Amino acid sequence: MNVCVIIPAAGRSERFGTADKLAQDLGGRPLLMRTVELFTKREEVNSILVAAPPDSIEDFKNRYGASLGFHGARIVEGGRTERWESIRNALRAAPECTHIAVHDAARPAVSKALLDRLFEAAQSLAAVVPAVEIAATVKRVAEQTTDVADHAEDALADAILGEAGRQSIPARQVCETIDRRGLVEVQTPQIFETELLRRAYEQDDLGGATDDAMLVERLGEAVYVVEGDRANIKVTTPADLKLVRALLGVRAPSQRPIHKRF
Ligand code: CTP
Ligand code: MG
Repeated sequence: MNVCVIIPAAGRSERFGTADKLAQDLGGRPLLMRTVELFTKREEVNSILVAAPPDSIEDFKNRYGASLGFHGARIVEGGRTERWESIRNALRAAPECTHIAVHDAARPAVSKALLDRLFEAAQSLAAVVPAVEIAATVKRVAEQTTDVADHAEDALADAILGEAGRQSIPARQVCETIDRRGLVEVQTPQIFETELLRRAYEQDDLGGATDDAMLVERLGEAVYVVEGDRANIKVTTPADLKLVRALLGVRAPSQRPIHKRF
């Protein structure tokens, strides 16, 4: 097995708020570096490509270039809007390899056991993705929202602010409850035979692809799921970052002794 890892890291962290989630401190190192380091000691892995935001690639290189270079990882230009553009660009720069593993930069908490399981399965299956069963009750809701006025009585606020002082609560009607049997939530890394993933990305319409397996499915080829890990969280919001810090047993910089904060 000769694996090339593609790490899409060109997103805008919009749901995270104002900061770049990949630059957040995770036990003294940026989150992105923790993710890259998951693969640097794996004997199956021969190359690592990191897809960087095209509009701030110089800044990205200044920030991470030295550390990535130390690990032998290369920076390639990612896509401006869609994740699949980043993977497509990285595939063009990928060296000879038997397999390609695609892993979100925003998932720094992958366990060794999960990687062992995936690489083992990928020896005999051409497309393998980790997934966990959906534990929640899932409902489809209407797009339209109805604003419900806040009836809390606060005469003083009303007197000062009038109607504008009242909060409105947007509510959406439930259309249906989805039968969750057989539904799973997929994660990364997703591992593919190189030829298969290349063929998937050569299709004319890549639009709407939210993961790589989906494009392989569009070819009509089989994709297999193996047991994922609930701790393999994708950092999307600041609350996810707190959770990942707790799972990895690292403290936020503000909670570390002052000489270990930066
Ligand atoms: N990504 C990428 N290129 C894009 C969009 C996303 O490489 N054009 C990467 C992100 O950097 C992230 C992974 O794909 O590592 C998963 O995307 P997501 O969690 O949605 O991250 P962001 O797109 O950065 O976050 P948001 O959607 O909140 O802006
Ligand atoms: Mg996104």
